Amino acid sequence: MDSILVTGNGPLNGQIPIAGAKNACLTLMPATLLSEEPLTLTNAPRLSDIKTMTALLQSLGAEVSSLQDGQVQAMSSHDLTSQTADYEIVRKMRASNLVLGPLLARFGHAVVSLPGGCAIGARPMDLHVEGLEALGAEIELKDGYLHAKAPGGLKGGVHEMRFASVGATENIVMAATLAKGTTVLKNAAREPEIVDLVECLRKMGAQIAGEGTSTIEIQGVDRLHGATHQVVIDRIELGTYMLAPAICGGEVELLGGRMRLVESFAAKLDAAGVSVEETDKGLKVARKNGRVRAVDVVTEPFPGFPTDLQAQMMALMCTAEGTSVLEERIFENRFMHAPELVRMGADIEVHGGTATVTGVERLKGAPVMATDLRASVSLILAGLAAEGETVVSRVYHLDRGYEHVVRKLEGVGAKIERIKGQ
Ligand code: UD1
Repeated sequence: MDSILVTGNGPLNGQIPIAGAKNACLTLMPATLLSEEPLTLTNAPRLSDIKTMTALLQSLGAEVSSLQDGQVQAMSSHDLTSQTADYEIVRKMRASNLVLGPLLARFGHAVVSLPGGCAIGARPMDLHVEGLEALGAEIELKDGYLHAKAPGGLKGGVHEMRFASVGATENIVMAATLAKGTTVLKNAAREPEIVDLVECLRKMGAQIAGEGTSTIEIQGVDRLHGATHQVVIDRIELGTYMLAPAICGGEVELLGGRMRLVESFAAKLDAAGVSVEETDKGLKVARKNGRVRAVDVVTEPFPGFPTDLQAQMMALMCTAEGTSVLEERIFENRFMHAPELVRMGADIEVHGGTATVTGVERLKGAPVMATDLRASVSLILAGLAAEGETVVSRVYHLDRGYEHVVRKLEGVGAKIERIKGQ
């Protein structure tokens, strides 16, 4: 297995291009199942999660062209041969469950494996099921699979979600595009990836209003057609690389970054003493002198502080002046990076969903292990700021969500290399 060797070596300066959003692409790709005509996505990131979704769509009979250098992903779901998402693929990636809504809407039936446990928490699918049932679906759990059917087709309805789940919002909105009548989804998630999905669905002929607010209204149509759509910038990759100059010092411009995607996160960086400025090309982040200040963080649905940046923010807080409290409210088990950071000399105490971090002057390089996608990159950030060498193992997690991480960080002066495993 490959690992990443990072050697801490001072300030970072330059530019980093930000890719298209993994999480947007993972819901845009299943949207192709809603139409017989091709959907073309540009700016798709080159990541292993995208390959997993490609394999899943292909297993259903969709044609998906392989990723080209221009990062175009073209798909056609003209002759689907299956409406079953198999456990072997779903277990690799929870986002596979996003085929449920589209398959059910277009074919009136679908069988999708439950994703099972995952490293950062239980992550059930009850909110997806409740929403689709409100549209008239009948869903049964048999042998680890959700068997969903809507013999007379889905029908619009009013549904209020108990929690603003991102995936459930996406599944319900996609399903409602082909339902009869109007659907009103209340307490919907407001993430930019949902706005991006709705913009794409609209290009395909869907009638939707209210995306980006907590009430989304969908007027069902008979059919959707083909479209071309540019995937929105990845705000989590953006936030991750904003932390690179914050933790090492220096000034880095994140090309393509927009403030509206990371407002609450940028406010925390500002409070910590890191400057963030919007330019015509992206976001410029700088830390010129002294240590950052400790700030407290609570993770929340958008527009709150994203859970997907909590691990990386913790790496920054490890070297801040003072004590910060990080509260994780989205996932119940998302502090697995903490003991790894402690191996690097960090002072962290975890009690339930709260981590208390007291900053130290300097972290020390150590061999550490990535436990999930965001944890892996937090260890790389910590390594950039540490004294000596850090070797991060199990980097296959990283390949799920960060393209060209070595090249991007090298480009701003980091000492980082990938070491091929046996
Ligand atoms: C998406 C993102 C993920 C991010 C998360 C929260 C994708 C592909 N993944 O995941 O990177 O961390 O949003 O911003 O877009 N829940 C239930 N029942 C359900 C569904 C969810 O209890 O039916 C719970 C989950 O266990 C979790 C919380 O709701 O505790 C948030 O989950 P959700 O918003 O659904 O996240 P995902 O869509 O899985």
